[in-house]
Amino acid sequence: MGRAAVLKVLDQMAIPAIAAPMFLVSNPNLALACCAEGIMGSFPAHGTRTREELEQWLIDMQRGIERLRAEAGGRIIAPYAVNLVVHPSNPRYAGDLDLVERFKVPVVLTSKGAPGDAFKRIHGWGGVALHDIANQRHAEKALEGGADGVIAVCGGAGGHTGTINPFALVNEVRQLGDDFAIVLAGGMTTGRDVLAAQAMGADLAYIGTRFIATREAAAVAGHKQMILDTRAPDVFFSASIDGAPANWLLPSLLAAGIDLDVLRTTLPGKIVSAQESKKRWKDLWTAGHGVGNITDIPEAAALCRRLKDEYAAAQRLLSTLAPAGSPRTARVG
Ligand SMILES: Cc1cc2nc3c(=O)[nH]c(=O)nc-3n(C[C@H](O)[C@H](O)[C@H](O)COP(=O)(O)O)c2cc1C
Repeated sequence: MGRAAVLKVLDQMAIPAIAAPMFLVSNPNLALACCAEGIMGSFPAHGTRTREELEQWLIDMQRGIERLRAEAGGRIIAPYAVNLVVHPSNPRYAGDLDLVERFKVPVVLTSKGAPGDAFKRIHGWGGVALHDIANQRHAEKALEGGADGVIAVCGGAGGHTGTINPFALVNEVRQLGDDFAIVLAGGMTTGRDVLAAQAMGADLAYIGTRFIATREAAAVAGHKQMILDTRAPDVFFSASIDGAPANWLLPSLLAAGIDLDVLRTTLPGKIVSAQESKKRWKDLWTAGHGVGNITDIPEAAALCRRLKDEYAAAQRLLSTLAPAGSPRTARVG
């Protein structure tokens, strides 16, 4: 297992990119559209309301991938992934893991905890386990538990985020060895960013926010529009909205009547909006620093093709760069 298993998965992909799992955003439609273009699609198990609904989504994925492969005619169809919160605090953990096992989900994106028994079970059906981390210590624990790789969630990522600069985090995590994969997450929106992630020492890029602004994404229209209308300074970091460090779209906080002075002075872990109804929670929208580079809402297939074209263009451009020490210069852009 380990990095070798992840590299085998990469052989079934057009570019090393995963459309990251996003609560209230990802669904089988979006995931399958990405897989069809050779980019790994995913969704969080907790994005479904019930175990029955999760089972239906897994049926949709399995049948969808089978159909795509039958019709592929030589095109690469990427495997899919499911995000599972592998922590006793998740009441659905055991049942959802049983389902994910029954469907032999090829890649499991685990968050919280990092229990070795979950990784063992995933390996039991030949699955690959990639675990969310925000610092070197988290990575160490995940690798001790048997994860095949870590998802390095850096500063500027959408959703629950880390705070460490991506160069610094990849370098620190790589100090732990090179027999595991690193998936880099945070702020990437282009194919060129995917190539840059590889240059930094990551094996794959994890792209979330860019995929919110797609036709297939289940995000509400207002969330999609806000992604187009905002830029990096509009992304507000706080651990006091849902108790964990996360990046929020500032206009959505203001529209929900959240007092920023109260938010800024609330201790991490204390939840500012806890007294509010669950309905309003749906109106607090998260996104990463990459929002400033998102200006359209294409179909996911078109976005994936753009990412692949940009990746190829960046590869070509870099190959024209002058070798170190040569007076020749090349422009990247
Ligand atoms: C709206 C939204 C919802 C998210 N929900 C989840 C989730 O349910 N599970 C998870 O592991 N990560 C979740 N994330 C984090 C993403 O999987 C990924 O780490 C992040 O989007 C990468 O950074 P980027 O958005 O800057 O590309 C979410 C991110 C966003 C923007």
